[in-house]
Amino acid sequence: MESTVTATPHTPAQAAGLAQFPVARPRRLRRTASLRRMVAGTRLHPAELVLPMFVKEGIAEPQPVGSMPGVVQHTRDSLRKAAHEAAEAGVGGLILFGVPEHKDARGSGADDPEGIVQVALRELAADLGDALVLMSDTCLDEYTDHGHCGLLTEDGEVDNDATLERYASAAVAQAAAGSQVIAPSGMMDGQVAAIRAGLDAAGFEQTPILAYSAKYASAFYGPFRDAAECAPQFGDRSAYQQDPAGPVGEALREVRLDLAEGADAVMVKPALAYLDILRQVRDLVEVPVAAYQVSGEYAMVEAAAANGWIDRDRVIMESLVAIRRAGADLILTYWATEVARRLS
Ligand code: PBG
Repeated sequence: MESTVTATPHTPAQAAGLAQFPVARPRRLRRTASLRRMVAGTRLHPAELVLPMFVKEGIAEPQPVGSMPGVVQHTRDSLRKAAHEAAEAGVGGLILFGVPEHKDARGSGADDPEGIVQVALRELAADLGDALVLMSDTCLDEYTDHGHCGLLTEDGEVDNDATLERYASAAVAQAAAGSQVIAPSGMMDGQVAAIRAGLDAAGFEQTPILAYSAKYASAFYGPFRDAAECAPQFGDRSAYQQDPAGPVGEALREVRLDLAEGADAVMVKPALAYLDILRQVRDLVEVPVAAYQVSGEYAMVEAAAANGWIDRDRVIMESLVAIRRAGADLILTYWATEVARRLS
């Protein structure tokens, strides 16, 4: 049958033959930049950003990290300068990783008061005061010659319970040196309880713990292992970090256990590939939730941008907005200073 057009349709709904329904026009609120700004549901603020930094013992000049263009292994001096710049930009905190000159089986540098992280923390604490939050990653992998996050048994397995004492001792050394937040990243069972007990016994009852609770055995950490010189010398971390394909409940269980052990805030890591986990953790807990936009996430964007394949600045902002929208209260990102400057 032939159809005749009787009137010019006025709305998309009429055009589709749905004139009886009210016309929905969500685009009304997207029309101008000021409208979009006013109704934005997700905002970023510099104070929610945390800058991960590397400080290396025994170097005279900062060393660029090949797989992380723009990131360096700092000298103690360049670290202080970059920390000041972060504070000036309004960045909320920094998290420090140490790269010691000498490594051994028990990771002695991790709790040595003269170890690189402790020395650097004392200098930063004296320098920065309360300008930003000084945090420290608590783990052994940067300090062990085998590159694993804990002590090894004779068979070469990571010895969970023997490692806990080392973590507690490292946490106390970091707190004594001026770290204001202890962030255990080793994924040993019971690590938060052990560290809490150690801190309390040493008089650091007021030092909070930000637990890397849901931390996956991720290939996205590749570039970090260049930066921190901590690639495992054999095997991988799958027996202690979570399986990316593991049950979602495992992440929630880790989070619950860490809170029961005394964690003050929890973390999901990596970020972009685990936004579903981040959302579920956010919905489960009342404490602040952090997400770590890790080295591989950074490297992929920088590499694609260097090739002219993506708009670097927009991709950075979009990824941070996505992480924030999925539920992160805090975001650890290597772009923290740059983004903080852009936001203010
Ligand atoms: C362990 C630690 C790692 C990262 C943060 N803390 C490496 C690992 O678990 O192998 C990765 C961070 C990143 O990739 O940016 N101390």
